[in-house]
Amino acid sequence: MDPTLDDLVRKLDLETKLRLISGAGAWTTQACEEIGLRPVSVSDGPVGVRGPIEDERDWSATMPSSSALAATWDEELLHRVGALLAAEAVRKDVDVALGPTVNLHRSPLGGRHFECFSEDPLLTGRMAAAYVRGLQDNGVGACPKHFVANDAETDRTSVDIRVDERTLRELYLAPFDHLVTEAGPWTVMAAYNGVDGAPMTESPLLREVLKDEWGWDGLVVSDWGAVYGTEESASAALDLAMPGPSEHWGEPLLAAVREGRVPEAAIDDKVRSLLRLAARVGALDGHPAAAGRPSPGTVEQGAALAREAATAAMVLVRNDGDLLPLANDNLSRVALLGPGALEARPLGGGSATVFPPYVVSPLEGLRSALGDRVELVTAPGASLSDDLRTPRARELSQPGTLRWLDATGACLKEEPTEGTHFVRDLKSVEEGSVSLELRTVFTADTTGDWQLGVSGVGAFVLDLDGETVVDTHIVRDPLDIGSVVGAAPQEHITRRLTEGQKVDVRLRFTWGQDIMLFWVGLVVGEPRLPADQQLARAVELAAASDVAVVVVGTTEAVESEGFDRTTLRLPGDQDALVHAVAAANPRTVVVVNSGAPVEMPWRDEVAALLLAWFPGMELGNALADVLLGAVEPGGRLPTTWPARDEDVPVWNTTPRDGVLEYTEGLHIGHRAYLREGTEPAYWFGHGLGYTTWEYESFDVPAHVRPGEDLTVTVRVRNSGERHGKEVVQVYAARPDSAVERPELWLAGFAVAKAGPGETVDVPVRIAARALQHWSVTGHQWQTESGAFLLSAGRSACRPLLTDETVVSE
Ligand code: BGC
Repeated sequence: MDPTLDDLVRKLDLETKLRLISGAGAWTTQACEEIGLRPVSVSDGPVGVRGPIEDERDWSATMPSSSALAATWDEELLHRVGALLAAEAVRKDVDVALGPTVNLHRSPLGGRHFECFSEDPLLTGRMAAAYVRGLQDNGVGACPKHFVANDAETDRTSVDIRVDERTLRELYLAPFDHLVTEAGPWTVMAAYNGVDGAPMTESPLLREVLKDEWGWDGLVVSDWGAVYGTEESASAALDLAMPGPSEHWGEPLLAAVREGRVPEAAIDDKVRSLLRLAARVGALDGHPAAAGRPSPGTVEQGAALAREAATAAMVLVRNDGDLLPLANDNLSRVALLGPGALEARPLGGGSATVFPPYVVSPLEGLRSALGDRVELVTAPGASLSDDLRTPRARELSQPGTLRWLDATGACLKEEPTEGTHFVRDLKSVEEGSVSLELRTVFTADTTGDWQLGVSGVGAFVLDLDGETVVDTHIVRDPLDIGSVVGAAPQEHITRRLTEGQKVDVRLRFTWGQDIMLFWVGLVVGEPRLPADQQLARAVELAAASDVAVVVVGTTEAVESEGFDRTTLRLPGDQDALVHAVAAANPRTVVVVNSGAPVEMPWRDEVAALLLAWFPGMELGNALADVLLGAVEPGGRLPTTWPARDEDVPVWNTTPRDGVLEYTEGLHIGHRAYLREGTEPAYWFGHGLGYTTWEYESFDVPAHVRPGEDLTVTVRVRNSGERHGKEVVQVYAARPDSAVERPELWLAGFAVAKAGPGETVDVPVRIAARALQHWSVTGHQWQTESGAFLLSAGRSACRPLLTDETVVSE
């Protein structure tokens, strides 16, 4: 109880209280002058802070996605990422960043897999806690999401997840539990889905577990539009309905309280949570903010950390004959191939989209690192998809013109524009306008069949050289966020253009009055060589170079929000490209630029294989650092990479009759592979650096009391020739357990760094919880007494040193 907040609540009448617990639009809460409350502003992340205004010109420092951040296993780095995002939030006047996403990699098909950290609850919880502390130590609130079991996207607003009590506790609630205890997030977001019969915005888990059992005093905000009714959600411990005003929490809730269907005390609790949040972020007069805020972030700070984090996240899973790092001095010609060589994929799609200030492509990164001494040749070699792209700056007359038109077609405002893609909140468009019109000149840089078209949702008219070629109205379900952000629909025509030919472009877009924002633009596609000729060109370059680097991957349209993948296969002809290049040059390095696992049927044919994730805006520079050895790849897998679609242990993400059963129980990721005896492509925890490590000794206390933490010490020696980082992993097992358990599970980890020849004693803390299980009879955590096997090693499948500790009073 906070008496001063209680006093404030008492001052408010019911109508005011109800006004406060629904948002004031998409990204802010309501103000109340009478008690000195200003609006609290929130913004999407988690790779950056997009800001409360949707506008493609409003850039955000873009860090690696969460699957990449977790691959660092480095809490100190994650804390700095959180701190940097706090500085970005300050720059954008944001009080709360909507992240991190702490759902689990239950199935690699999950559309937002890239946005989640790991298949393991301990790694997820610890990475997320460091990120949250980084934000909140710097005065910006975090909002871990989506509480709970939003581990896939199919039918996410209606699906009911059926998960047994123990699995819910040990896997899906566990990261939230850890975060709430260790980092105290100021808010948590309740998910769209239901769990065991109740939508999460109405779920008893909010009060019984999150607030009462864990003693957490933060604010629960609904996912956007996840309040589906009045009494149920208002009676639950949900505090804030977003966006607002909420149709369910306005008049209907007033009536429900007046008629005694919802107690006014429940509303008071919500207002108190809101005021507590406002106090923490400094939005409530007379209440000092919980922490000081840093100076606004700069692009330079963002660039430096994005580059460091991206290299720390890259996982080298194979390095035959130590092909990497490429010795710069011995190179004379490098072939950079693949659809990802030029088209960098810094991030996934959906609400996680931010607008980077720039993105360094692999070609740009390698070109600047290699300098003039090394020839760099490039070809895409394969197509990744049929989607058209945004025109490049050099293909356009600069600047173009953007005009805002009213319903009669009259121009209200004209401004220059460098881009051809427009993201705007309807609140920020020219008043009275209903359409925008882009005028520019497109220049073809090669002769052939070009595709020119439009992308987005709404009414479009595209004129080329004064002739209307596209006149269309593209419609999508407004809740289908993936089709607005990431996988936006496109329509186009094909036109033959000769090299240097200029085309006058006029694109008119008219938005509907029922939307809040739009993401629209001009898209183009260059003439493509027939597939066999494209491939032949890449093979020819590979054969005639010292080394071939092939960048393959997915896109923000493949990995996004609102839908799941249906295969792990690489899109387009990318597999054929890698097979052919590997056959042409034994010194082939493949770089995978994706947020989630993909099938890599050629993985044993290539000399080196580097998983680069969605690494953020510094992609190309980080890649050059790692390939050329300026920095070693610091990542270890936070999730198991399957060998084939058929082997994926948890395949089904599609509900049947509205229900998705987590029948696999505790066995996801590496736990499932171990149980089934299936060999994945690469195990959880695996990753090579540029040095080698010996595991020399393992010191485990012989005895520990139930419920006590313990610390084990692993002695490792850097047996290679350069300074390096090692992620020391400790797994637990309980072969003769009275309860069902995974064969082994991650119990603790620590990052060690050492120079060549150096030995380090690495303390690894094993929290008491790591040796506990959730009792479904006692409904509490229990420690089974007796001996637990602990093993230290470099991945879930290769224990190097093993010992035991006995749990007893
Ligand atoms: C997503 C959230 C996001 C919110 C606001 C929802 O669709 O699930 O993660 O924070 O939109 O954009």
